[in-house]
Amino acid sequence: MGPVRGTKPARMLTLGRMDKTSPRPVPASIDATVALLAQAHYLADRSLGTVLYLALKMGRPIFLEGEAGVGKTEIAKVLSATLGRRLIRLQCYEGLDIAAAVYEWNYAAQMIAIRVAEAEGGHDRARLERDVFSERFLIKRPLLQALTPDPAGPPVLLIDEIDRTDEAFEAFLLEVLGDFQITIPEMGTVKAVHPPVVVITSNRTREVHDALKRRCLYHWVGYPSAERELAIVRTKLPGVGKKLSEQVVAFVQALRKQDLFKSPGVAETLDWAGALSELDVVALDPATVSDTLGVLLKYQDDIARLEGSKVKELLDEVKSELRAAE
Ligand SMILES: Nc1ncnc2c1ncn2[C@@H]1O[C@H](COP(=O)(O)OP(=O)(O)OP(=O)(O)O)[C@@H](O)[C@H]1O
Ligand SMILES: [Mg+2]
Repeated sequence: MGPVRGTKPARMLTLGRMDKTSPRPVPASIDATVALLAQAHYLADRSLGTVLYLALKMGRPIFLEGEAGVGKTEIAKVLSATLGRRLIRLQCYEGLDIAAAVYEWNYAAQMIAIRVAEAEGGHDRARLERDVFSERFLIKRPLLQALTPDPAGPPVLLIDEIDRTDEAFEAFLLEVLGDFQITIPEMGTVKAVHPPVVVITSNRTREVHDALKRRCLYHWVGYPSAERELAIVRTKLPGVGKKLSEQVVAFVQALRKQDLFKSPGVAETLDWAGALSELDVVALDPATVSDTLGVLLKYQDDIARLEGSKVKELLDEVKSELRAAE
């Protein structure tokens, strides 16, 4: 006999335990938000600080769009670390379904419970149905976990790379993000007591539907200015020399002005500075740059575009600009 599906009217449910401890408060101003991120070595500009402050204050999801490696995912990680909240991550992919994203019934455990009840005899069918469709047999996936009360306060829910899912899943998210609730047909509607801090990221490989964006505050995460990028390198890699850091950042910034298929992100800048430091490089020269281009550029066409005299030309420009700024 398979599990029996109940058709109860929707009930409002709170899963898990309610707690009495109060969560670490969200920052009280834009400056405090920027300072909070800086505690975890994330250097945000004021416009990002403003959107994050408002999202936290208003309890609205934040939608972050931008090129690869500009620090979108890191924002959710840093918020979780600095607010002392649990990070719940939903990595999106094509074909992501409710069973992987929201919940699944533990069919094996339900079967055993039914068999045991049958073997014991005299079981009440309605009660058994209620029992097997209770929280005990529910496997909570990230979205449902995020609506369950947590002693440390509402978690940070990272819905990463939403542009990889399909539109059906996006439509499903509307209920979750609009009302912070999820309907489980066999149980009722689960509603968060305190909404999670939701961070959605997209690399914009396709446009995400307006209806979803409307429920969020939006921010485009661009490449940082040279000044900010240098500060990021100095903060994240304090062991890399000042001169090398300056040259690395100036070279990457110059590369981003070239007509490349995929410009390097901050992640690549950090990787490159780290790699050069590992090689005991103290200043850039054309041969070292050419040999390590694979850390910065991941497409052969882009690398080919810089072959020959192009690296030397760019490097000379970068060095003379740096000299002029001294
Ligand atoms: N403003 C910043 N301050 C500090 N570190 C940063 C900043 N921006 C980016 N980084 C660093 O750059 C790296 C890449 O960040 P992250 O993985 O969040 O990028 P992403 O935008 O999510 O990229 P992808 O689209 O490839 O997933 C991380 O190591 C992150 O710490
Ligand atoms: Mg990411």
